[in-house]
Formats: sequence, structure tokens, C-alpha cells
Amino acid sequence: MIKSRLLAARSDLTDLSSAKRILLIIGGGIAAYKCLDLIRRLRERGHIVRVVMTKAAQQFVTPLSVAALTNERVFTDLFDLDDEREIGHIRLSRDTDLIVVAPATADLLARMAGGHADNLATAILLATDKPVLVAPAMNPRMWLNPATRRNVEQLKRDGIDFVGPAIGEMAERGEAGLGRLVEVPDLLAAIESRFSSASDDKPLAGCRVIVTSGPTHEPIDPVRYIANRSSGKQGHELAAAAARLGADVTLVSGPVSIGEPAGVRIVRVSTAEEMLAAVKHALPADIAIFAAAVADWRMATPNTSKIKKSTSDAPPALTLAENPDILKTIAQLRKGRPPLVVGFAAETNDVIAHAKKKLKSKGADWIVANDVSSPIGVMGGERNAIHLLTSAGVESWPEMSKAEVAIRIVTRAAAHLATLKRDAAE
Ligand code: CTP
Repeated sequence: MIKSRLLAARSDLTDLSSAKRILLIIGGGIAAYKCLDLIRRLRERGHIVRVVMTKAAQQFVTPLSVAALTNERVFTDLFDLDDEREIGHIRLSRDTDLIVVAPATADLLARMAGGHADNLATAILLATDKPVLVAPAMNPRMWLNPATRRNVEQLKRDGIDFVGPAIGEMAERGEAGLGRLVEVPDLLAAIESRFSSASDDKPLAGCRVIVTSGPTHEPIDPVRYIANRSSGKQGHELAAAAARLGADVTLVSGPVSIGEPAGVRIVRVSTAEEMLAAVKHALPADIAIFAAAVADWRMATPNTSKIKKSTSDAPPALTLAENPDILKTIAQLRKGRPPLVVGFAAETNDVIAHAKKKLKSKGADWIVANDVSSPIGVMGGERNAIHLLTSAGVESWPEMSKAEVAIRIVTRAAAHLATLKRDAAE
């Protein structure tokens, strides 16, 4: 019911011009200051921003500075009679195209999941019939706490979208992990992609998309494994973007420690062989995107007990066997090959030359190539600079957030698929 309400609300957006009305609910976290930059950038793009601040948020930024940036009054209190007469919480919750909650604290998420309405922010969130995008920020332990996990799961089931949190240093000294508010450009991309997907009328509706993401772990013995530095961010963003464009998405993910994208079916795997089996099981598909950093080798025979260190012996030699190439296997299927197969190429040198070879040798339709040794820190980082190789040639895109790369690739894939279908029909 909630999902259909949300879809109905999203389809309303198609009638609007490119300027959108955004209701930003600022929660009480140290990252609240980032909202000032977010407001500035949203307004630069022509959007109208109204802001509600929780009591705790006002400890971090003042309503005065927010009002100066929005050029609108800032709403803070549920029981302000003047406000209730002029513009009540019901109207605030409806007179908008999208509600953004940032930073969403653990407490605010718990109140949302519990359906509380004890302050203006929670009352609006309970009363709204508009899409809601939440950007959490909290201490990593609070994010990983089972109570927060339960609340996030519940909110996702209720149709709430999430962006982040990101990994990094916390305000508390010496603390790091998953819990930072995503950077402003990524929040901006997440907000705008909601609008583009709504106004493009879900070009991937009725299509099935498979995305692989993250690293694989190949066991050496019961306690050790072969892995790589892939975070899964780009693959997860691709899955999220495809879902936003209306696709039925299966995300086959290796072990990662990032948040799950909303609206996708996740199949968790550990090894390359498990990943291949999960991809085959998810077929048929219209589009398959292989963003995972699959380990090329596994132990020929993993030890069933822990390999012991012995002072007299030389270090053990690991005998490796080649893993199946998942991209190549699927791209070269005679029966049931997805019409659009997209591979990635993680390179440290001669990026385009290597990627061209991969396009041919693997039988992919497109290769998304990136320089994983670049100083922007592609592996594990938030940004990417890619080259898109197709049969038409090479396009080099400027550096942008992984969310933005994802929405652009998926939008292109949707257009390509539409052309293939049109050609097949003629
Ligand atoms: N890939 C795959 N299965 C493998 C290895 C790679 O599906 N066993 C896919 C990746 O998901 C990616 C593409 O193949 O889409 C290229 O991966 P990359 O690691 O760049 O290249 P490799 O094929 O592993 O070659 P090399 O390590 O020599 O660069």
C-alpha cells in the first residue's frame, strides 16, 4: 500500500518543471553543517528548499543561517500556533516533491520506524504522501547496532530510500567506519536522480537487470582468504540506479561493508564460483553489469584446517587454480545471453588499450574502464573517472561521484535497450 502510494506520488513529479520543491529535515548531528552547502547547491540548480530543523539540529547550525540561505522561514516547532495557522505540518508534508532527511540520526530513524509524531519533523514524516530520501549519519557502532539495523530494514520495507552512510573518520577522535554523512555532491546526485527517474517515466520498467558487485573472498584455509580492495560502492550504486529507473534488479554481491541499496533483490556470495552460480540462477536478464572485482585465482585445494606456521619449514607455497570468468561466461552464452552485457576494466596503466582488449576477448558489448591507481582513490573511494568503450568508440567522462556514474550508465543502458528492442521489432 505504502509502495503504491509512493509510486503515485512519484508519478506526480512528471507534471512539474525542472525546478523542484524540496523539504529538507535537518537532524541533530555534527554533519548538519553540510546541509548549508547542500541548500546552496540545490538553490543554484533552481530548486526551492524549505527547511525543518529538529531541536537537536539547532545545537549544530542556527535557523538564522539556514533562513539566510533558503530565503524562506525555517520551521522548528510543532506547536507554534502561528505556523499552524499559516502552514501546518500536513501542508508542509504535502507541498513538496521530495522530503530529504539529513543527517538522519539513529534516534530519528528509530522514531520514523516506530511511527512517532512527537515533533514537527516526525509529524511531517508520518503525514506525508511524498517520496522520502534519508541520509543517515551516526557513530559506526550505532549504525551496526541490531536496533538500528531493524529500523533501517523496516523503513526500506516501507518504501523509504537511503543514501549512505559513507565510510570514513568520525568526529570522535580515533573512530572510523561506516557512519559518515555522504558528501554533498553525492547527496545532490541522489536527490536529482529521484527526479530524473520520475520524469523519465521509469524506462527500465518491466526489464530485468543483474549487477555483480564487491570483491570475492577465496578461502586459503578456514581463517584466511584471498581478497582485493573493492568496496562494492560502484556496483551497488548501479543496482540502485537501475531500480530507480524501474528495473527488477538482482544484485549479486561479494562481501562488502556498505549499506544495501533500496528496492533490489540481494544475493550474497563469497567466492567467484558462488557468484557465477548466483548470476546463472538470476538469468534471464535484459541487462547484465559485471562490476565485481572477482578474484582471478582461488586455492586449488583450500586447506580444511588452519595452516600452521613452523619455524623450521619454509613459508607455504599456495597452489592456485583459475576462477571462472563470470563476464566472459555470460557474454558468450549461446542461449539466454542478455541483450546488453557490460563489463568493467580495473586497470593501473594503459587503461584504454587494456580495456579495448577486454571488450573483444570477453565478448562484452560495453566496457567501463577505470584507472584504479588514480590519485582520486577509485577503490574504496566515493568518486570515479571512467572511459566508456562501446562498438562506437571510447568516451572519457569527467570525474564525478559513483552515484552519478551509475545513473548515467544505467540511463544509457536503458536507451540502448530501447533501440535494440525497436530494431528487433522492425
Ligand atoms: N570478471 C569476471 N570474472 C572473473 C574476472 C573478471 O566476471 N573471474 C569481470 C569483472 O567483473 C569485470 C571484468 O571481468 O567486469 C574485468 O575484470 P578485471 O579484473 O579488470 O580484469 P581481469 O579479467 O581479471 O583481467 P586482469 O586481471 O588481467 O586485468
